[in-house]
Amino acid sequence: MTVDHIPMSTAGSAGLLASRRAVLPRGVTGAGRWEDPYPLVFVRAREQFLEDVDGNVLLDFHGGYGTAILGYSHPEVDGAVAAAMTDGRSFVGCAQIHEARLAERLCALLPEAERIALCGGGGSDPLYHAVRLARAATGRQKVVKVEGGYQGWHGELGASTTPPADTAPTHVPPTVPNSPGILPAVTDAILAVTVNDPESLRARFAAEGEQIAAVFVEPVLHSSGCISVDDGYLMLARELCDAYGALLVFDEVLSGFRSRVGGAAAPTGVVPDLATYGKAVANGHVLAFLAGRGALMDQLAPSGDVFFSGTFNGGPLGVAAAEATLDVLQSTDAMDRAIGLTTRLAEGMNAAIATRGLPAVCQHHGSVWNLYFRTTAVRDVRDLARSLQGGTEALNLAFRHHLRDHAIFLQRRVGTNRGFVSAAHTEADVDRAIAVVDQFLEHHAEEIAA
Ligand SMILES: Cc1ncc(COP(=O)(O)O)c(C=O)c1O
Repeated sequence: MTVDHIPMSTAGSAGLLASRRAVLPRGVTGAGRWEDPYPLVFVRAREQFLEDVDGNVLLDFHGGYGTAILGYSHPEVDGAVAAAMTDGRSFVGCAQIHEARLAERLCALLPEAERIALCGGGGSDPLYHAVRLARAATGRQKVVKVEGGYQGWHGELGASTTPPADTAPTHVPPTVPNSPGILPAVTDAILAVTVNDPESLRARFAAEGEQIAAVFVEPVLHSSGCISVDDGYLMLARELCDAYGALLVFDEVLSGFRSRVGGAAAPTGVVPDLATYGKAVANGHVLAFLAGRGALMDQLAPSGDVFFSGTFNGGPLGVAAAEATLDVLQSTDAMDRAIGLTTRLAEGMNAAIATRGLPAVCQHHGSVWNLYFRTTAVRDVRDLARSLQGGTEALNLAFRHHLRDHAIFLQRRVGTNRGFVSAAHTEADVDRAIAVVDQFLEHHAEEIAA
């Protein structure tokens, strides 16, 4: 397939930068939303497309940070939200019918879920509560997290997320705070481990097992793009937690409802004590929750003394969106379609890479993919870090610009080219994307091979 450069003026987005910067930090609303030399400013999103202020319509693989599993502005989901508003349900802060109905449904779906704690914001919220609950339940302070994992904006697990400068393999990665302003004592309580490295888990437990309250793992390490986590690694985490009396927590904020209707870890048979979800479960609307064993969850207030509150907890519009999203996911082949298209996309990219004999690979799981340059396999964040040496981030930027020049949008994320496919995408979209990627491979073959 030949691909045409689509002439796009982005003058409107460029022109807005100065006025936006006057009122928003660098003109955006969060670290990942900046793009060099300026971010596109969007006005609406429908199905698999984003429209910017200049009227450009871009095929999207950002998916609202993975939230839009069904595609943007899905009529049933947004219709349910609109109906809830019309019905006078946009009030917060007291018990409502629908929150329990949604919780019942989630408990039936998720093997670890006997209770659900609906939170008020994004996925960071249930992770915060999970840390506190784990500490309260075990009387211990330390938490284990995977190097390269992102477990929210707060400091509780906010360390060692970005690819490290020291790329040598290690069983005991250092804990590097994600931000200034985090109390050193909070960072000191975090022990980082290497994903897919059983020795790393064993080393941490052997040294400090009696002090570990919980182990936090993403069942697919999407924070570093798309890294599969071995079943054996999850099983070992379970065994060690049981042996030492620690809790196992799966962070399914990104992986959940992206490869199946439920958590990505369920097929492994490893059941965590707690799990956190958000993003795709409400198809772009605000809903995140903590799920877990009854005896543990009942330690949360008001049944227990572990403080749990929030004005917007169980926000009714998010609840309505989640119910409608589940309705669609459970009654249609939407998930299978999104997964099938992702497989087609990844296989197409990998075939193009193989034909050109380049060191690059598209790893994929469910409806999430990541194209890595200058490596042929990424098993942990140190593999990723090694592939980034020698200017790969400049290549990644050039890749995003190439996509943008062909009216395809991918959001910047440190060290990665991570994309999301929705059920609204089509085979034609995917085939065009493969052709655009192939053209990039052709134009940048020397740099990729360097
Ligand atoms: C795996 C994972 N956990 C937690 C979070 C935090 O979720 P939120 O940004 O909605 O607070 C994210 C966000 O990208 C994530 O990818």
